[in-house]
Amino acid sequence: MSWGEIAQARLADIAACSLASSGVTRLPFTDQHREAIAQISDWMVAAGLSPTMDAAGTLVGHKPGQGPALLIGSHQDTVRDAGRYDGVMGVALACLAVEKLSAEGYAPPFPIDVLAFADEEGVRFPTALLGPRALAGTVDPAIFALSDADGTTLGEALRSFDGDPDQIATLARDPAGVRGYLEVHIEQGPVLENSNLALGVVTGICGIERNRVTFKGETGHAGTVPMQGRADALVAASEFIALVHDAAPGDVRATVGAVRVHPGVVNAIPDQVDLTLEIRDISDATRTEFARAAEGIGLDIAARRGCDFLIARTYVQPAVPCNPDLMVALSQAVTKVQGQSIDLPSGATHDASAMADLCPVGMLFLRCKGGISHRPDEHASAEDMGLAIDALAEVLRTLD
Ligand code: HGY
Ligand code: MN
Ligand code: MN
Repeated sequence: MSWGEIAQARLADIAACSLASSGVTRLPFTDQHREAIAQISDWMVAAGLSPTMDAAGTLVGHKPGQGPALLIGSHQDTVRDAGRYDGVMGVALACLAVEKLSAEGYAPPFPIDVLAFADEEGVRFPTALLGPRALAGTVDPAIFALSDADGTTLGEALRSFDGDPDQIATLARDPAGVRGYLEVHIEQGPVLENSNLALGVVTGICGIERNRVTFKGETGHAGTVPMQGRADALVAASEFIALVHDAAPGDVRATVGAVRVHPGVVNAIPDQVDLTLEIRDISDATRTEFARAAEGIGLDIAARRGCDFLIARTYVQPAVPCNPDLMVALSQAVTKVQGQSIDLPSGATHDASAMADLCPVGMLFLRCKGGISHRPDEHASAEDMGLAIDALAEVLRTLD
C-alpha cells in the first residue's frame, strides 16, 4: 500500500469511532473519542512516537531530539454528521510523514510532538480549542463551568476522561522550546480543486465573531389582531436575516445558524426571536466594521416594525497570519512534490488559530472534492494525501 492508501485505510477505520449518524459524529470526552485515541495511539507507535494524554485530553505523540520542538497536529473531534477528514486527517498525515522518514532511515534532529486535540469544533460545549489554548497558556478557567445540552460541565467531562482542569495551567509550553506548529487540513473550499492542484499553503486564518441577536415585539391572537400595526418579531428577524446576508461585502461571511421563536405556536404572533449571527473575515477591521453595519440594519428594521433590537457579542477569535518562514518551507516542499504551489487564505478556523498565541504557525491545505466539508460526503483522495505526506516529510527533512 502507498502512504496515501494507508492514510485512507486508517481514516476509514477511525470513522467508525462515531455515534450512530449519517456521517461521523465524534464529540470530545466521549466513548467515541476514547475509541479514537486508541487508534491514534497505534498510529503514533507505528511512527516511533511515544503517545501520552495530557490534562486537556490532547494525545501527544513525542519524539525526543535536540533544541526547540516542532509541533504538528489537528483535532480528533467532528461536527455532527461530518465527513471523515476534517481534523483527524491532519493527525494521520503527521504520523505517516514521521513514519515515512523513519522507514527511510531519517530522524529529524529536533523533537517532534504530534498532537491530536480533543475539541476544535465547539459542538458539545459553547467553547473550543481547549488543547491548543492549554499549550499556549491562554485557557480561561471559567470555561470548565460551561455545560453541554445534558448539563454536564466541561470540567466534569474532562475529569471523566482522565483529564484534569486543575492541571491545565501546567501544560503551557515555553515559547523558547517551540520552533513552530504545522497543521495539515482539507481546504474545505473550492480553490485548490478549481486550480487543479492537490496542495496549497495557507496565508492566514480568518477571524470570527459570534453574536446573539434578539428581536422583541408583541404577541397576540393570530386570528384577531389586524395585520396593520403588528409588532411581529419573526417578520422583523426575517428581514434582518435577508438584508444582512445580502449586505455582506467582499469576502465577509455572515451566517445566521440558529433561530429560536417565542412562543413558537401556530396561532400566536411571535413576540421574541433569538438568533445567532456569525461574521468572519481575514481582516479583523473589515469584520468589526460589518458587525456595526449589521447592528444598524437591525435597529432600522426594529424601528420600522415596532420592535426592540438587541445584539451582544458572545465569542471572538482574531484573524491569524501564518508565519512567512514556515510558508516558504511549505511552499518549497509543495513545489518539489507537485511542481508548483499556491497560497490561499482559510475561511475556516483551526487549532492553529489558538497555537499562534504560542509560536509561529503554518498550514498545508489539501484539495477536497467539491470543497465540501462538515458533511458525510467530504472526501480527499489517497493520491492527494500521499502528496501531502511527501511534502510534510520534505519540510521535516529541510527545516533548519
Ligand atoms: O468553524 C470552523 O471554521 C471550524 O470548522 N471549527
Ligand atoms: Mn470543522
Ligand atoms: Mn477542522
